[in-house]
Amino acid sequence: MTVSASPRRLLVLVASPRRDGNSATLGAAVVRGAQAAGSEVSLAFIDDNLDGLVRDCRECRDEQGRCRIEDGFGGLFLDRFLPADGVALCTPVYWYGMSGQAKVFFDRMFCYFAKSHAGSAQVRERIKRKRVALLTSSEEIYPAIALGIVHQLQEYARYTHSRFIGTVHGWGNGRGEVMRDPQGSVAAAEALGREFFERPYLDLQMDTPR
Ligand SMILES: Cc1cc2nc3c(=O)[nH]c(=O)nc-3n(C[C@H](O)[C@H](O)[C@H](O)COP(=O)(O)O)c2cc1C
Repeated sequence: MTVSASPRRLLVLVASPRRDGNSATLGAAVVRGAQAAGSEVSLAFIDDNLDGLVRDCRECRDEQGRCRIEDGFGGLFLDRFLPADGVALCTPVYWYGMSGQAKVFFDRMFCYFAKSHAGSAQVRERIKRKRVALLTSSEEIYPAIALGIVHQLQEYARYTHSRFIGTVHGWGNGRGEVMRDPQGSVAAAEALGREFFERPYLDLQMDTPR
């Protein structure tokens, strides 16, 4: 009897409020590619799950140490982000950075990650070793337009021992305009989804066994 490995789980996070926008278009392309490769993939709009910014956790937690912000973040983070083997973040460029939705998503992780949270040791363990990727879209198109976001995700990956496996930038301003991006970002996003768990990754350190 052969035991087949269970499919890898990919979570696509869309960090724009526009359902039919460019981030959502790139996210849908990642989903198509990942499904074609046999991955188990789901997509979530961060917007649907956030009603508040991170607060002072010491003031905010209830008697059991739980976050008091009553929105969908806890469910999205604990039930979909932590179990995923890979996460693709799709964000518009807002003021040369990621959207507020994306930033608040990262900020709110702190509520579960901080030592003052009862389950933080488990959260810290489960957050590690994911594959992460970034998809951005913007009106401007010079090469450095999304570098601030790329750098931030790289630092996130370094800190959490994740693997930053790829980034795609899409050119577009109107809803779904990225479909006409002459640089083919939608096709690149689909390829990224298809290769998400297979794409070679190499980040050497001096003492890496080779
Ligand atoms: C608040 C805000 C800030 C923006 N800042 C920039 C920017 O700094 N540079 C840029 O090229 N486009 C900027 N844009 C345009 C968006 O990046 C662009 O329209 C993007 O494709 C939107 O993606 P979406 O359809 O997923 O929302 C901004 C748009 C908004 C609403």
